[in-house]
Order: sequence, then C-alpha cells, then structure tokens
Amino acid sequence: MREAIESRHSIRAYADAPISPDELSWLLWATQGVRKLGFAVGSERTYRSVPSAGGRHPFETYLAVRAVKDIEPGIYRFLPIEHALQEVDAPRDISSEIAAVCRNQKFIEKAAVTFVWIADEYRATWRYQARAYRGIFQDAGHVCQNLYLAVANIGCGACGIGAFDDIALSRFLGVDGVTLFPAYAATVGKKK
Ligand SMILES: Cc1cc2nc3c(=O)[nH]c(=O)nc-3n(C[C@H](O)[C@H](O)[C@H](O)COP(=O)(O)O)c2cc1C
Repeated sequence: MREAIESRHSIRAYADAPISPDELSWLLWATQGVRKLGFAVGSERTYRSVPSAGGRHPFETYLAVRAVKDIEPGIYRFLPIEHALQEVDAPRDISSEIAAVCRNQKFIEKAAVTFVWIADEYRATWRYQARAYRGIFQDAGHVCQNLYLAVANIGCGACGIGAFDDIALSRFLGVDGVTLFPAYAATVGKKK
C-alpha cells in the first residue's frame, strides 16, 4: 500500500496493449464493488469498496471500452450488485468520440478504457437536498483515488479527467445531463 501511494501519479501515455477482463473486473471492484447488502434508514443499501456520504453511493459507472480482451469496443454500464457489464449502445469504435467530448484531450484516444462516474442526483438529494451535491463530489474523489491506487498492481496507469463538456459527454453516454450527470472521469491503460 505504501508503495502504491508513493508511486501514484497521473499517467497519460499508454502502451498499445489491452487490459484483461480480470483486470477490468478488479478496477470495477476497487472503485464501486459491493461488499455487502444491507437495510438502513428505510431503504436498501449497498456497502462498497469506497465510502459514500450517508451510504448513498450515487454513481453509475459508465465505461468507454477501447481495448479490453474479449470485450467489443463500445459503451458499457457496470451493474455493481451483479458485478456485470451491460451494453449501453451497439459496440463500435468510440475512442475518438470520448476524447472529443473531453475537451479534445488526445491522450484519451489511447486509453484502454475510460471510466465515467455518472451521478444519479435523486439518490443523494431525497435525503440531503442541496447539501447532497457536496457529498457527490466528495464521493467521486474517493472513487477515483481507489482507481489510482488499484492500477498500480496490474501494470497500468490512470489519469483523473475533470475537463469534459458536460452536455456532450452526457449525450455521448445517453444520459440526460440533469438528473444523471457526469461528475468525474478517468482513463486507464497499460504503462509503456
Ligand atoms: C478533479 C481532477 C480533475 C482532473 N482533470 C484532468 C484532466 O481533465 N486532464 C488531465 O490530463 N489531468 C487531469 N487531472 C490530473 C491532474 O492534472 C494531476 O493530478 C495533477 O497535475 C498532479 O499530478 P499527479 O496526479 O501526477 O500527482 C485531474 C485531476 C483531478 C484531481
């Protein structure tokens, strides 16, 4: 753990190599994995690999997959309870589109996979009203920090992405950008 923290830095140059489905599974588990299911404050809840204000876990994880073995390039959504992926759109090469909606940051085209954490605002606001938005962005930091640390033991690098066009990224992923909006994103790829 100490080594992972000491060596953590943002990596934007990736080898032209795919990551494996097991590696992707590990990253999904590290960032949003469900440890157990529970019931509190009148509702079902999940306990995950990351903390979340009031246990709201307001994110849907969307993936722009470019190079994961045995997974067609395209857009997928993570189903955390099933620990499975759901196809969002017909598989296609999305690498230039995801870079374009992230303010034309060219290095994103070479990422094996780009994570986008979409906030489902109602999950937090029904309980915390306006204060919920603080929690959403605080939670996002925890999620991405786990990604930064989790890539260390699979020979990958990551880079947090906050520079994106909110509307274009929402449209690209097929969310409305209001009740479901992009809070944060990150690229992952094999280190050169
Ligand atoms: C909230 C947030 C948003 C960021 N957005 C971007 C981004 O859009 N593009 C990028 O190349 N780096 C982005 N970064 C990475 C920072 O540039 C990086 O963390 C900073 O330069 C320090 O470098 P280090 O992470 O290697 O220590 C972001 C980092 C954070 C925490």
